[in-house]
Amino acid sequence: RRHLLGLFGAGAAGVAAGAVGGAAVVAATAGGAQAVSGSGAEQYPFFGTHQAGITTPAQDRLHFAAFDVADSLDRDGLIELLTEWTDAAARLTQGLEVAEGGAVGGSDVAPPVDTGEALGLPAAGLTITFGFGPGLFEDADGVDRFGIAARRPAELVDLPRFQGDALVPQYTGGDLCIQACADDPQVAVHAIRNLSRIAFGRASLRWSQLGFGRTSSTSTAQATPRNLFGFKDGTANIKAEERDALGEHVWAAPDDGPAWMAGGSYLVARRIRMIIENWDRVQLGEQEMLVGRSKGEGAPLSGGTEFTEPDFEATGAAGQPLIDTAAHVKLAHPTQNGGARMLRRGYNFVDGNDALGRLDAGLFFLSFQRSPQQFIDVQRSLAADGLNEYLKHVGSAIFAVPGGVAEGEFVGQRLFA
Ligand code: HEM
Repeated sequence: RRHLLGLFGAGAAGVAAGAVGGAAVVAATAGGAQAVSGSGAEQYPFFGTHQAGITTPAQDRLHFAAFDVADSLDRDGLIELLTEWTDAAARLTQGLEVAEGGAVGGSDVAPPVDTGEALGLPAAGLTITFGFGPGLFEDADGVDRFGIAARRPAELVDLPRFQGDALVPQYTGGDLCIQACADDPQVAVHAIRNLSRIAFGRASLRWSQLGFGRTSSTSTAQATPRNLFGFKDGTANIKAEERDALGEHVWAAPDDGPAWMAGGSYLVARRIRMIIENWDRVQLGEQEMLVGRSKGEGAPLSGGTEFTEPDFEATGAAGQPLIDTAAHVKLAHPTQNGGARMLRRGYNFVDGNDALGRLDAGLFFLSFQRSPQQFIDVQRSLAADGLNEYLKHVGSAIFAVPGGVAEGEFVGQRLFA
């Protein structure tokens, strides 16, 4: 792979192209750099204008982790942690160990620096995206331990309670987050495991979520995947190629709020349990009515094919709207929400089963938006969603994802400047 990197001239540009033959698809990545995908050995640059893992073509696997900072952590300690996380993430995303020779380098008295389970595995498209929760700026007692409270974006507060929320603390909140996405679950888990280990004594894992099967496309080069309701998900998502939409709906602009957030985005995470045993007893016509799209093709019920815009005015022979007024795609559509759009990047999950023998399954919803208000508006509109009978929001968190990291910087450096 290193030889190929040289051929692509990638090293000098800080761009990694992990092509090993086969039909390759060239996709734009977060920093505007090019990475070659479709080979099974994708490698994305860590450094860039925006953090990777947002417009990066959604990988197949996720390990998401939310952390609480230790009471004893001070400003210097936090900066040190972010610096160490940055250094490690820059290496891990390039398919390297946490440190040179880290996996087998220990001694009789010290454990190896890298836990070792990704030794010999390629980068597998790993991206690592960092975010800051509201609690980092001011703890529960209102104390500004890190001297950053004045720089908290006004919008970075816990999300309001939404109708039907059944949040449990075990899946909610967090001072810091790390989203690790990869095409190999072992690679994503290795990243979170090692970053958690680096944080030992400074930040501890509050909750984490594994995801399989992306539930959205973030590039027009990707086929639309399906969620656990069996429907295509991500059809109308914002795609990396829609540069204007990214500027309008995803990236924070310099005058949106504090300057350090420019080029960043707000990340909303919602652990949504799907009561799939009940869903599986619903007849096809009703499933399609609840979503507002056909199950096979994913076309709007107003007609056309998958990418035809839905027509909410279209009516059937009896004068009834072809897309039900309570259909998910209608209530989530920008026309119902003052034009609000978002970049969705969620994953399916199945975490065993509950005491009733039902799968503990659902959609780990992740969305990136320029302002948390975009999510709030859509989620409020979804209060009338017919799908809610089969859904339960059990986890929720919000994070400010700072802009991209330049080589020699640590993630979020401008917050501390
Ligand atoms: C669209 C499923 C939760 C926002 C869709 C589509 C499906 C779907 C099948 C149509 C295909 C597409 O355009 O992607 C689900 C399921 C959910 C869920 C099963 C819960 C488990 C949410 C939540 C939000 C949301 C919590 C945001 C608050 C959207 C948006 C669209 C969409 C913005 C695109 C609407 C458009 O512009 O046409 N969803 N969704 N969804 N969903 Fe969801």
